[in-house]
Amino acid sequence: MIKSFVDKKLTFRDMDPDVSLKAAADMSSAEIIETVSASSLRGRGGAGFPTGAKWKFCSRAEGDQKYVVCNADEGEPGTFKDRVILTRFPHLVFAGMSIAARAVGATRGLLYLRGEYTYLREGLMAALQKRRDDGLLGDEIMGVDGFEFDIEIRMGSGAYVCGEETALIESLEGHRGEPRNRPPFTADTGMNAMPSVVNNVETFAWAAAIMEKGPEWFRVVGTDQSTGFKLFSVSGDIDRPGVYELPLGITVQELLAAVGGENAKAAVIGGASGRVVSQAEFNRKVCYEDVPTGGAVIVFGPGRDMLDVAENFLEFMCEESCGQCTPCRLGNTKLLECVRMLQEGTCSAAYLREIVELGESIHLASKCGLGQSSGNIFLSIVENFREEIMGRALGAVEPATLRS
Ligand SMILES: Cc1cc2nc3c(=O)[nH]c(=O)nc-3n(C[C@H](O)[C@H](O)[C@H](O)COP(=O)(O)O)c2cc1C
Repeated sequence: MIKSFVDKKLTFRDMDPDVSLKAAADMSSAEIIETVSASSLRGRGGAGFPTGAKWKFCSRAEGDQKYVVCNADEGEPGTFKDRVILTRFPHLVFAGMSIAARAVGATRGLLYLRGEYTYLREGLMAALQKRRDDGLLGDEIMGVDGFEFDIEIRMGSGAYVCGEETALIESLEGHRGEPRNRPPFTADTGMNAMPSVVNNVETFAWAAAIMEKGPEWFRVVGTDQSTGFKLFSVSGDIDRPGVYELPLGITVQELLAAVGGENAKAAVIGGASGRVVSQAEFNRKVCYEDVPTGGAVIVFGPGRDMLDVAENFLEFMCEESCGQCTPCRLGNTKLLECVRMLQEGTCSAAYLREIVELGESIHLASKCGLGQSSGNIFLSIVENFREEIMGRALGAVEPATLRS
């Protein structure tokens, strides 16, 4: 169930994907990019890169074949909104991909579907076939000369790192799913070394909505730098878990009130690569300029042991590190080891301080976003629950020296 914050009516339900696509079919590439840029839509997959700018880079890149890739890997712990969008609004997503294709000049689209979502494949294939039958995919889409685009579905195999766009492309090309060095960037050198756009499922759905309703409609909600609504997957110690449509810029407090989590001790915003927000920070805003998120919110009630939380996320990172770079492969095992020592009462305060420094080094030295954010949960727990954590360490350490 999706619950809308403002008027109990989900925005996507009111959209007509055919109207969106028709609007784009009647526009030039530059006009589409201008419309999406004017909305200030930022990518809903986590990093929040401006969608219009991404499309513009790709439209200007040279290449015989361009690709539009939909990132439906949805491997972030606590995220389940893309699954709901793909189940209920596949045509909006496919219209968004087609609009992107017209904007950048791509003729091929790929939807990279999370391995665990295999059960969605048949329905998505049927939706694609219907679009072909209705002249919404294929040659001369909506009768527009030169508007040619089709979409295939490719399956992932459940690796978290394959949600990272360059690892995703490696996987799509049939290689081991490991991130690439950047530059070159995907807009220039993506799928099969050709210019490509990779966007999140929700980003494509919003892009389609913006084409129908216009950029001003989208900008009315949110903050200056984080416009529009966002879907949040909210789980944990709350009364009403589910997928919520909420305005960006909402405070953590307001979000918790909407989901029945007022008594929370902490919330992990942004999944395993996000951060822990404690009660003292519940007035912070969920948006790209304050606490960013791809949509995952996991709430922890008063009875939760934050070391258990750190252990759980670090176990995940150790399991999911692709192993390509040393800081991530080995560093996270050291962080996990430290958490276990704290749990057993064998970690000194001095060692904890060293491990916190190691966590910061992993952030600086890792090759991709997975490693760069892998220590976030641990570090933010140490920072926000200093007393709870220090109470488990042997010996004393000046709090100010624990984390700069
Ligand atoms: C480890 C890791 C996992 C990621 N997983 C996803 C994912 O499941 N879905 C997604 O859309 N983006 C994911 N991303 C972000 C993508 O690399 C990329 O930024 C995103 O697909 C771009 O789309 P957007 O601009 O529409 O957000 C992940 C990034 C990292 C580092």
